[in-house]
Amino acid sequence: MPTALSLNELNALPEAEFLERFGGVLEHSPRYAEAVVAGRPYTSAEAVAGAFYRAAMGDDQHAQLALIRAHPDLAGKAALAGELTAESAGEQASAGLDRLTPGEYAEFHRLNAAYHEKFEMPYVVCVREHGKAGILAGAAERLGHTPEQERQRALYEIGRIARLRVLDLIGPDVESDRGNA
Ligand code: GUN
Repeated sequence: MPTALSLNELNALPEAEFLERFGGVLEHSPRYAEAVVAGRPYTSAEAVAGAFYRAAMGDDQHAQLALIRAHPDLAGKAALAGELTAESAGEQASAGLDRLTPGEYAEFHRLNAAYHEKFEMPYVVCVREHGKAGILAGAAERLGHTPEQERQRALYEIGRIARLRVLDLIGPDVESDRGNA
């Protein structure tokens, strides 16, 4: 991963470089970074994260469903085949999903399949905000929701995932230090 940027650097970055660095904030959906780059300058990392969330929430339903469906299953086929994006691989590993017991794999497989069957999309949760047990319990609970509830919930979780990815890419703001140097 490239070294984290300061906000000043982010605001001054050539557009192509911004798109390269931030294109992976929303999974397999680099076009949202184009809306976000147009909103510069930003005054905080949270504002950058909020801009990604608003770009996704402001999109039409068809595009939102495509965004949700761009997410791989947790501990799913893509993970087993080593085909995850770097961001997703790191997130799944952070919750230990890359080293499950056979029984845990079977449980993930069962829940992923049931979730796809009911909602026709992957189970998306901000993995870094929940442990393995919470992720599994969350899937079981969310299977009781309506499709509309789950569409909204998936978008909310995508916003949380994006927020942590943005915070990884932006370092602590050192503007005041620099100004005094
Ligand atoms: N939560 C954080 N990252 C991911 C991901 O890549 N896929 C899913 N389904 N949920 C996530």
